Amino acid sequence: MQKIHKELEKLASISACPTPSVTRIVFSEQDAKAREYFIGLCTDIGLKVRTDAVGNTFCRWEGKNKDLPAIGTGSHIDAIPESGMYDGTVGVFGGLEAIRYLMEMGYEPERSIEVLMFTSEEPTRFGIGCLGSRMLCGQLSPEEALKFKDFDGRGLAELLERFDFDGTLDEVKMGNDYYDAFVEFHIEQGPILEKEGLDIGIVTKIAAPSSLRVSLIGQGGHAGAVLMDKRRDAGCAAAEISLAVERIAKESTSPDTVATTGILDIKPRAVNSIPKEAYLEIDLRDTDLEVRDKALEDLKQEIEEICKRRNIESTVELINKDSPAICETKLIDAVEAATKELGLTSKKMISRAYHDSLFMAQVCPTTMIFIPCRDGISHHADEYSTPEQIEKGVKTLALTLKTLSSK
Ligand code: GLV
Ligand code: MN
Ligand code: MN
Repeated sequence: MQKIHKELEKLASISACPTPSVTRIVFSEQDAKAREYFIGLCTDIGLKVRTDAVGNTFCRWEGKNKDLPAIGTGSHIDAIPESGMYDGTVGVFGGLEAIRYLMEMGYEPERSIEVLMFTSEEPTRFGIGCLGSRMLCGQLSPEEALKFKDFDGRGLAELLERFDFDGTLDEVKMGNDYYDAFVEFHIEQGPILEKEGLDIGIVTKIAAPSSLRVSLIGQGGHAGAVLMDKRRDAGCAAAEISLAVERIAKESTSPDTVATTGILDIKPRAVNSIPKEAYLEIDLRDTDLEVRDKALEDLKQEIEEICKRRNIESTVELINKDSPAICETKLIDAVEAATKELGLTSKKMISRAYHDSLFMAQVCPTTMIFIPCRDGISHHADEYSTPEQIEKGVKTLALTLKTLSSK
């Protein structure tokens, strides 16, 4: 099982920033190159590759019974700015490695097995995560997706022009009988498995993410000439909102509430000019939907109060407000059986990060396989899982796919 490590290294070099950080934004030149690299590896071993109109890429190892719903696995290869080389990628290249492992074993699946490389799990370009899987499960319509604008004001239709994807956006939504099961392999992105010295995490639930976009308009002016009591500083309002985000999460009744102001921009951004505009993107999550929604409402109210007090115009836009996913017991059991067969230790756990599986769970039975990552670090250049940890994950995935595809 040596190929995957070299392939992940090669993939990490297809990046818009110097190593060890990785930046690979969906529909960028790097994304195009990385897709081409992965598709080449799949066709090398005889997988049948097709794309849908948004670029979700299905790499199929045909089973003996082609008419049966297939077994899916996969993840994403897009990477947020200056992140690491394992988030998503171990699930895509690990899916391929698992198929190669099963092929070498001489196994012949009854059901087809497919590695699915999703388009844009990360929200970097359009501010919303899981573009491909949202469309696959029908949560996001083509009409809504076509309205998105990226950081340069470009829309989806324009960005898709450089790619030769198949079909139309109307055809992306998948039927509930397309997959019999979906299993995503991913790094944990948290510290639990490493701390407890365990090999594998088996995901039972995926937390409910939500995000807000807040635009503020105040009054710009000269930093020396405008006295403090005359100011309508949009930057100060943004700073106060950002602190409210932190406080609301900390004061929540649930230790699982987490909230982050990941983007905070001010304009015109000159040291001797009062910020006249500010823009924030806020991420707020919990494993419990009610608690998450309460925090979201508290935050909206707080933003209104801050802006009223500071005489700032505000526009608050809800980008997404997703439900948690509950994983399928039958699949959790299949993964657990695979770990036992391999003599690995495991535990059932919640995923606090979101994944394409959050949406796949709406169209088919789903679970995830986690492996430890060093110090729980992710979305950072220091993200790391050892070759041994990755191999244990791939083997667990392979045996799970074998069980699920054999009948
Ligand atoms: C996924 O990348 C997330 O932010 O949870
Ligand atoms: Mn990520
Ligand atoms: Mn990921």
